[in-house]
Amino acid sequence: MLSTQQPILRRFWYPVMPATQLADGKPHAFTLLGEAIVLWQSAEGGVHCLKDRCCHRTAKLSLGFVEGDRIVCGYHGWTFEGGGACVRIPQLAADRAVPANYCVPAYRAALRYGYVWVALGEPLIDIPELPEAGRPGYRQVDQFYEVWKIGALRLMENSFDAAHIAYVHRGTFGNMRRPEVAAPEIEAHPYGLTMRVSSRVVVRDDEARHAVGAEGGETTRDMESVWFMPFVRRSRIRYPHGLEHVIITCATPIDDQQSMVVQWAYRNDTEADVSSADVIAFDREITLEDKLILESCEADVPLAVVDGEEMHMPTDRPGLAMRRALKALLEAHGETEQRLVRA
Ligand code: FES
Ligand SMILES: [Fe+2]
Repeated sequence: MLSTQQPILRRFWYPVMPATQLADGKPHAFTLLGEAIVLWQSAEGGVHCLKDRCCHRTAKLSLGFVEGDRIVCGYHGWTFEGGGACVRIPQLAADRAVPANYCVPAYRAALRYGYVWVALGEPLIDIPELPEAGRPGYRQVDQFYEVWKIGALRLMENSFDAAHIAYVHRGTFGNMRRPEVAAPEIEAHPYGLTMRVSSRVVVRDDEARHAVGAEGGETTRDMESVWFMPFVRRSRIRYPHGLEHVIITCATPIDDQQSMVVQWAYRNDTEADVSSADVIAFDREITLEDKLILESCEADVPLAVVDGEEMHMPTDRPGLAMRRALKALLEAHGETEQRLVRA
């Protein structure tokens, strides 16, 4: 599936930028689903998003500057309000109004969980509900915001693929001598699914012992993962002594070959128990193991599950359920899956 070619994917919310980045009062460029956008925050805190293309001579508005609640194009100073209307052309005589059709497409933008979320079309569903956000006793640790050369669906599938742990993560918490995985319980719901699985994992060194709070060389991870269509997952890992490590991983599609990986965690321990730096360092190592392999996979994931392009095994069930769900979504909205044309 080529995300940029499936208009229905424009009707979901995606986290595009940490809120802290936008707080500098400057315009920021991002590319979402192949569409160049510009974001800015007014002094009052409102977040705005427009197509990053001035309607005068197509200059990137992100090269301009913010004035109050508005963005000023850096080329000739045309000024746009958050709704996209051009409200000022400095060269126009004072008694001449700006024509009403001088405007730039505007998109929905919202701040949630410390990130700026954007929907390019009318959203089909709300921004995912994350129960641990703001819950007393839980803290948020922002982990990663970086571009990976992957199709977004590859990362979602990987996040629900228990079989890769023994091999991809053999250097951290995987155990190649125990490649078999318990059959996960999968529950489908509109616009997503929930998977529950319990597994024994290796706690290899002191760093890992510290991060997960385990004492011996192995521990049990009870995992509940929720997939929010199309590219957000929440994974709650519970260890026997009560520690909860909840990871939110988003693969925001920049285009069909690259995704912005946005990840943060919620934990029910304190900074004094395990510092944020240690939490990040532990997940950093694991995440780089995934990145290396995933960037070697073809970015364009086929939604058809039986045409022989890719072969499957029973542990692929969650990923296959995602492929079917996305295929059904496209069909429900009159779209067919778009693929890379192969030589
Ligand atoms: S191109 Fe933006 S004002 Fe001229
Ligand atoms: Fe992994």
